[in-house]
Amino acid sequence: MTDPGARPTGVAGEDLLVRAVAPGRVNLIGDHTDYTGGLVLPMAVDRATTVELRRHGRVVELVSTASPRAAVVDLDVATGEAPAGPGWARYVAGVVAALRPAQGGSGVVSTTVPIGAGLSSSSALTVAVALALGFSGPARDLAVACQRAEQLGSGVPGGIMDQLCSAAAVEGTALLIDCTSLVLRPVPLPAGAEVLVAHSGTERALVGSAYAERRADCDRAAALLGPLRDASVTEAEALTDPLLVRRARHVVTENHRVLDCAAALERGDLAEAGRLMADSHRSLRDDFDVSTPELDAVVAVLEATPGVHGARLTGAGFGGCVVALADAGTLERLDATALPGPAWRVRAAGGAMVEVLE
Ligand code: GLA
Repeated sequence: MTDPGARPTGVAGEDLLVRAVAPGRVNLIGDHTDYTGGLVLPMAVDRATTVELRRHGRVVELVSTASPRAAVVDLDVATGEAPAGPGWARYVAGVVAALRPAQGGSGVVSTTVPIGAGLSSSSALTVAVALALGFSGPARDLAVACQRAEQLGSGVPGGIMDQLCSAAAVEGTALLIDCTSLVLRPVPLPAGAEVLVAHSGTERALVGSAYAERRADCDRAAALLGPLRDASVTEAEALTDPLLVRRARHVVTENHRVLDCAAALERGDLAEAGRLMADSHRSLRDDFDVSTPELDAVVAVLEATPGVHGARLTGAGFGGCVVALADAGTLERLDATALPGPAWRVRAAGGAMVEVLE
C-alpha cells in the first residue's frame, strides 16, 4: 500500500492568521468495521469546513456563520468538560483537550458540510480546528488526536475512519484504510463513475443512538473469537448467541466486501462494486440493525434508477444519507419527487490543508 498518511501537514507558529479547510466524507463501503480494526473505503467530498483563526492568547473563541452564539474554550479546559455555548463548542473543547495547543485564538467557522447527515461534519470541524490551532505532524497523528477530540466532545466511542479520511484523502480517489495498521491506499474512482448522496430526511444522531451498543456487541464477539478482522464466517456463525452471530457476520463479510469493492473499482467494474454496496446495505440492515425504513426507501428509489449500480446507507446509519455508485449523468435521471430529501453528486476531494494568511 502507498501511505499518504505519513505526509506531514500543519503549520506551527504563533500570532499568525491562518485558514484551515477540512472536508466531510461519504463512505463508499465498510461501515461498523473501523472500531473492530477492520477495513473501510471512504471518500472525502467537495464539502468542507473552514476555520479562519488569528492565533493569540489562552482562549479559543470561534463564531460560526451557522449559529449565533460563540464557542469559548479556555486552553486549560478540563478533559471531558462541556463548555458553555453552542453544541459544537464541545468539539472545540475536545480538540483543545486532545492537543493542548500553545496558543488560543479568535476566528470564524463556516461549513458547506450538511450537519447531522452522516457526512462527518464533526470530523471536518475537529480536523479544521486542530490545524488552525497549530497541529503539525503526520496526517495519521492528526486523525488520532481528532478521534479522541470527537470522543470527548460527543461521548460516543467512534472509530478513526472519518478523521483519517478528512486528514489524508487524495483528490480523485477513495481511501482504503486498514484500521489496524492505519496504512492507507488511494483507490482511483473509474472514469465515467458518479457518486451520489441522497438524504433520507431524518437526521442521524450518534449521541444517544445504539452506536455504543453495537460497538459493545462487537467487543463481546471479539472476546470469544479473537480479532474479528481474522475471523471467518464459519467461526462467526458458530457463536451460540444469535445476536452476536449477526453482528460478527456483518463485520467479517463487510471486510471482504471492502477489499473486493476496492479491487472492482481499480479494474473499472462498476457493476460489481455496486453489487457489493447493495450487499453491504442488506448486511447493515439485517445483521447489524442500523438501517431505518427511510434509509431503505431511499436505497430502493436509487436502485430502481437506470444508471445506478448499487446504493447503501453510509456512515453509522440510524438516519442520515444513502450513497450510490452510478454512471455519469445519472443524477439528472433521478426522480427527485420520489425522494424525501435532497440528492446531489459528490466529487472525491483531497484532504485537509492549512495556509498562513498573514
Ligand atoms: C461513524 C463513526 C465512524 C464509523 C461509522 C460507521 O461515522 O464516526 O468511526 O464507525 O460511524 O462505519
